[in-house]
Amino acid sequence: MTDYENILVERKGRVGIITLNRPKALNALNAALMREVVVAAQEFDADHGIGAIVITGSDRAFAAGADIKEMATLSYQEVYLDGLFSGWKAFTELRTPVIAAVAGYALGGGCEVAMMCDILIAADTAKFGQPEINLGVIPGMGGTQRLIRAIGKAKAMDLILTGRTMGAEEAERAGLVARVVPAADLLDTALEVATTIAAKSLPVAYAAKESVQVAFESTLSEGLRFERSTFQSLFALADQKEGMAAFTEKRDPHFING
Ligand code: CAA
Repeated sequence: MTDYENILVERKGRVGIITLNRPKALNALNAALMREVVVAAQEFDADHGIGAIVITGSDRAFAAGADIKEMATLSYQEVYLDGLFSGWKAFTELRTPVIAAVAGYALGGGCEVAMMCDILIAADTAKFGQPEINLGVIPGMGGTQRLIRAIGKAKAMDLILTGRTMGAEEAERAGLVARVVPAADLLDTALEVATTIAAKSLPVAYAAKESVQVAFESTLSEGLRFERSTFQSLFALADQKEGMAAFTEKRDPHFING
C-alpha cells in the first residue's frame, strides 16, 4: 500500500477505512491531504475486494475546513490556474459507497467533504457549519450547492450567511445526517453499516449509488428513465438470479463479490 503522511489507511474485511490524520491542525484539508485521500479512495475503488469505504477523523475534528494558513496568501492567478479544490471531484466520482463518520468539527471544507459522501453518520459531538463568510470567502468545495439540496434553502442560507455551527441533533433533524450515535460508538456503527453494504452485490451497490446520484442532476422524468433502464439491466447479473432464488428458497443470498 502507498505511504501517506496526512491520513491513515486500513482495511477490515471488505471495508476500506481512511482516517484524516493532521491532529495539530484539526485535520485541516491541505493540498497534500486532499491528494492522499483521493489516491487512497481510488485504490479502494479499484479493488473489487472492497465494498464500502469509511472516511473519518478524530474525536475532536472530522476536519476544521480547508487549510486557511496554506491558502491565505494565494493570489487569484494561483488559485485559478491550480483549480483550487477541483481535485476533490475525483472523490465524488467513486463508485463504491462512501460513509462519513463525523465526530467534532466538520466545518467549511470538512462539512463539504462529509456531504460528498453517500451516508453521513454523526457522533453526538459533531458540529457542522460553513463559516467561510467569516474569512471573507464563500464555501468552495460544494457547500452552497450540496447543503441546499441536503437541508433546503432556509437552513442552508442561515448557516452560510451567518457562519454559525449546527449540532448533530439539529443536523439529523434537518436531513444532513442519517444517524446520530454516542461518540464512543461512532466508528463501530459506521463499520457495521459499511460491512452491511459491502456484503451486498457489488455491481448492484454501484448501480444503486449511481441511480440515487442521478436524482441530484436530472429532471424527475430523466431520473426515472435512468432508474428503469438500470433496474432492467440488472437482470443480466447472476447476482439478481441468486438474490431472488435465495428469497424463494428461504436462505441467505451468496453474491459473487471480490
Ligand atoms: N486551517 C488551518 N489551520 C487550522 C484550521 C484550518 N481550517 N482550523 C484549525 N486550525 C489550526 C489552528 O490554527 C491551530 O493551530 P496552532 O495551534 O498552530 O495555532 C490548531 O488547528 C488548533 O485550532 P484552535 O487552537 O483554533 O482550536 P480551538 O479548539 O480553539 O478552535 C475551531 C477550534 C473553532 C475549529 C477553530 O480552529 C476554527 O475556527 N477553525 C477554522 C474553521 C474554519 O473557518 N473553517 C473553514 C475554512 S475555509 C474553507 O473550508 C473553504 C472551503 O469552502 C473549502
